[in-house]
Amino acid sequence: MAITEILPGIHYVGVNDRTTTRFEGLWSLPCGVSYNSYLVVGEKIALIDTVEESFGSRLYENIREAIGDRRIDYLVVNHMEPDHSSSIAALRLRYPELQIVGNAKTIQMIGGYYGICSGMLEVKEGDQLDLGGGKSLTFHLIPMVHWPETMVSWLAEEGVLFSGDAFGTFGALDGGITDSQVDADRYWDEMRRYYACIVGKYGAPVQKALQKLGGLDIRTICPTHGPVWQREIGRVVGMYDRMSRYEGERGVVLAYASMYGNTEQMAERIARELAEAGAGPVRVYNLSYADPSVVLRDIFRFDTLIVGSPTYNAELFPPVEELLRRIEARCIPQRRFAFFGSFTWAAAAVRRMREFAERMKWTPVCEPVEMKQGYSSAAAECCRTLAAAVAREMNRE
Ligand code: FEO
Repeated sequence: MAITEILPGIHYVGVNDRTTTRFEGLWSLPCGVSYNSYLVVGEKIALIDTVEESFGSRLYENIREAIGDRRIDYLVVNHMEPDHSSSIAALRLRYPELQIVGNAKTIQMIGGYYGICSGMLEVKEGDQLDLGGGKSLTFHLIPMVHWPETMVSWLAEEGVLFSGDAFGTFGALDGGITDSQVDADRYWDEMRRYYACIVGKYGAPVQKALQKLGGLDIRTICPTHGPVWQREIGRVVGMYDRMSRYEGERGVVLAYASMYGNTEQMAERIARELAEAGAGPVRVYNLSYADPSVVLRDIFRFDTLIVGSPTYNAELFPPVEELLRRIEARCIPQRRFAFFGSFTWAAAAVRRMREFAERMKWTPVCEPVEMKQGYSSAAAECCRTLAAAVAREMNRE
């Protein structure tokens, strides 16, 4: 049996993308990404999701390799974001008789995106599609994981969950398909980064979905991105559970920006003091250069955040402002938080970060450090005090 046949009659027909540089036009892809698509072969054949349209011909070749001239009867659309749906129109031309299976929101979106309005089979929560041959798909709606139409397909006979974006990761598939065929350790950080950037706003819907799916005896998870999970299901579900509860592990992200190095010296002093106080892993990022997706990943991972910014045009320095906006957009309910900043003639950065903390309803660990003009021994002392307060809080819990 080829390794693309994950289980008897269940084929992986997805593709790797190692050339797109920005997922959603935003997020870096240093290890590529896979667009996963699956065939379920009973007496009838269902394809679950498609791939990004520039890879549509490869999807077709993979389908042909798996089933030859047999026709596809159903295309199940679990998720409409175009990285999974934009090959629908081309596939329809190849298989004009296939029925598109989706819920009411999906069907509306297919019309809106691709002008396809016929040959649809609408399904609702709990509906079943019997493929014959001992294979049937049951549909469960999990709205906002990651779009409002999102659903999963459950193949009860084999314990396989086709999970859409849930449990997905960045990172193309290096030859293997399942977690025991690839180097799974390569994907944990990419899963965190994927979650933080793509799904991170939707913690509550992810929690609801986990509860809804919690009763299923899941033995294989087939997500739309990254490896198929079998051996590591416990770890994967646990990670999604923790991330969607916004639960951070012990550690500090220190994110700052600096124009001429003065604010940077504050950051370096704070980081050194934290390390000396044994505050756990400390990740320092200069936001003018750091990959925003990596910074967000670590903010989701660790429980403490320290931010520093110079004042720029009577506002926050732009990369700092952008980071704070991204955090706000993801509604992260709590982080142990401290902040520091600088100005030359009119202070603004520290005030803006205080306003950010108020909007987030985060209680800062201590008063911020606000430095006027150049770095000095007095500023260094204030940074030591700030770091000591943060370390004390961390060591208390
Ligand atoms: Fe991979 Fe939300 O699409």
